[in-house]
Amino acid sequence: DKGNHRHFMEKEIHEQPEVISHTLAHYLDFVEGTTRALDLPFEFKNLDRIALSACGTAFLASSIGKYWFERLARLPVDADIASEFRYREMPLSKNSAALFVSQSGETADTLASLRYCRREGIPIGAIVNVRGSTIAREADVTLPTLAGPEIGVASTKAFTCQLSVLASLAVRAGVERGTISPEQERVLVRHLAEAPRYASQVLKLESQIEAVAHELARYRHVLYLGRDTNYPLAMEGALKLKEISYIHAEGYAAGELKHGPIALIDEKMPVIVIAPHDRIFEKTVSNMQEVAARGGKIILITDKKGAEHATINAMETIVLPDVPEIITPIIYSLPIQMLAYFTAVVMGTDVDQPRNLAKSVTVE
Ligand code: M6R
Repeated sequence: DKGNHRHFMEKEIHEQPEVISHTLAHYLDFVEGTTRALDLPFEFKNLDRIALSACGTAFLASSIGKYWFERLARLPVDADIASEFRYREMPLSKNSAALFVSQSGETADTLASLRYCRREGIPIGAIVNVRGSTIAREADVTLPTLAGPEIGVASTKAFTCQLSVLASLAVRAGVERGTISPEQERVLVRHLAEAPRYASQVLKLESQIEAVAHELARYRHVLYLGRDTNYPLAMEGALKLKEISYIHAEGYAAGELKHGPIALIDEKMPVIVIAPHDRIFEKTVSNMQEVAARGGKIILITDKKGAEHATINAMETIVLPDVPEIITPIIYSLPIQMLAYFTAVVMGTDVDQPRNLAKSVTVE
C-alpha cells in the first residue's frame, strides 16, 4: 500500500526518520548514551581486519562503513563488491571477521562470498533487512536493519538503515578496542540519535529539490563528486539516478577529477557536488573552481556554513542543516535519493520497477 504517495520509492524515502530511529534503538541505548553489547562470534579487540562485501547500494553502504571502522575503531576494513570477492581468493587471517550487507538477504554473489568465508573458517555476520532470508540463516549472527519491507527497486530506506547499523557497530568496535572513551561514546551516541530529526527536516526541502530535478532532467550525463564518506555517497547518487531515470551518471572522488573526468566537463554535463563544511571542504571548493572554469554547471549539496564559504557560482545550491559529522552520510543520502526520484518522475519512467532490473538478484 502506497498510502498517499505516488510511488513506493517516495513512501520509502518518507519512512526514513522512523525506520532509522527503530534501527538505531536496536544498537544504541539512548537513555544511557551507550552502544549496546552484542552477542558476536568474534571480539572486536582481537580482530586485525574486517572483510565487508555486498552488491550495489549495499556495497556503497559498506564502503562508507569502511571509513567509520577505520577512523573510529582503528580497524582496517576491506570493502568489496561481492561478485569480485567471491573469485578473488583473498587471504583471510584467523583474526579477521566477515560482514555481509544485503537488503533482501538473497543476493547470489553476496551469498557465494559468505560461503567462501565459511570455507575459510572465519566468523560471519550479516546485516540484512529480510529476516529468515538465506544470508541471515547462513551467518553466525544477524545484525538486522529494521527498515520494514522495501518494495521500490531503488534502495532508499534500507541504505540509510544499513548506514545506521554500520555507524553504531563502528562506535561499538571503538569502545571495545579502546579507541573511543566513554565520554566520546556518549557524544557519538547523542549525535546518532539526532539523525531521525535532521532527516525529517531534510524531507521538507522536497519542493526545492523537485525544482532542481526539473533542471537536471534536461541533461544526458551527470557527474557526482565527493570526498571522504561523500565519495561512496557520490557513487550512490549516480547509481540511484541511472537506475531510475536512465540518465548516465558517474560518481567520483573529487580529488580524482583532474586525473581524467575533467576532460568531460562542459556546459552539457552538470556536476553534483556533495560537500558539507568539514575539514576538507576547501579542497572540494578548489575542485568546484576547476569545474566552473571549464563552463561546468554545479549543483552543490552542502550545509549553511558550506553555502557561505563556497566561493563559486553554483547553478543550484541545496542547503541542509549543519549536522554532526558522523551522521552526514545518513542525512546527505536524502537529497540524493529525492533528486533521483523527482528526476525520474519528470522523465516519466517506471520509478518503482525500472527496466531490466529486479529487486532481488538471485542469479549470478
Ligand atoms: O538485496 P541486496 O541489498 O543484496 O541487493 C543489492 C543490490 O542488488 C541493490 O542494492 C541494488 O543495487 C539496488 N537496486 C540499488 O538501488
